[in-house]
Amino acid sequence: MKPRVFVTRELFPDVIEKLGRYYDVEVWDRYQPPPYDVLLEKAREVDALVSLLSDRIDCNLLKQAKRLRIVAQYAVGYDNIDVECATNLGIYVTNTPGVLTEATAELTWALILAVARRIVESDVFVRWGEWWRTRTGWHPHMMLGAELKGKTLGVVGLGRIGSRVAEIGKAFGMKIIYYDVKRNVDLEKALGAEYRDLDTLLQEADVVSIHVPLTKETHHMINEERLKKMKKTAILVNTARGAIIDTNALVKALTEGWIAGAGLDVFEQEPLPPNHPLTSFKNVVLVPHIGSATYEARHAMAELVAENLIAFYEGREPPTLVNR
Ligand code: DGY
Repeated sequence: MKPRVFVTRELFPDVIEKLGRYYDVEVWDRYQPPPYDVLLEKAREVDALVSLLSDRIDCNLLKQAKRLRIVAQYAVGYDNIDVECATNLGIYVTNTPGVLTEATAELTWALILAVARRIVESDVFVRWGEWWRTRTGWHPHMMLGAELKGKTLGVVGLGRIGSRVAEIGKAFGMKIIYYDVKRNVDLEKALGAEYRDLDTLLQEADVVSIHVPLTKETHHMINEERLKKMKKTAILVNTARGAIIDTNALVKALTEGWIAGAGLDVFEQEPLPPNHPLTSFKNVVLVPHIGSATYEARHAMAELVAENLIAFYEGREPPTLVNR
């Protein structure tokens, strides 16, 4: 009899078919995540689980999942999983690093450019007829934004995605500074980046881009005090996890003009409610957690999930094991 796997959202049919050669696969085929009680019930029945960042895989669930041996997360971030608890119970946790680096770095740049050059605001201005109504035509002061060449990009977290964002920043002619818990001198040299402590980075950077995982240490790392350190002309971009920034503090910063704008792909509360204060700022660009949302990245993520599960099935170490 094949081992059983519960996949908490539809992936790609070719990958599911491949998995089906090794596992008895059950897929939750809705757009909404399975409710916690359903997840718990399924986890109790299966040997393997494919989880998404919106699935809460806590210690309560893991302890009740007596057959469960592996949780294969369809994301690079895994803050939704109690990894320590899984490790204590001998349950493997895997993730999907590497394959979504380009997609996420490119979206980060899309947000930086969109905020710096007021792309969304300009689109609305044209689309909703304001340009027509005001009869402005070409105007020297219309939709003025900020140029990036010669400015300073502050990368918070110089991992795979942060490094790629830095590399692209170089191509824009920006000076690159970074903060990371671990200083990496070789990488620094390769990227032409300079190390700063976080507070200095926030003071110096014209664009601050967040690329750290969400942990107890990084939760609300960008708080009121730190937002006050940023330049009034600076842009803050977050494609990592919403809770790294204290949302209430960010709303205050935007209301009181401590910073010039923000580009946000991730939120403390997802989905973001339509009347949330963040939706009221023209200088904020909001997208619905689509960092890795390219066909290439999402398919490669699914392939990597399958590779991890197949390796586990064959008694090999899963290639991207988190808790080795
Ligand atoms: C991740 O992988 O952690 C992203 O947030 C979603 O792709």
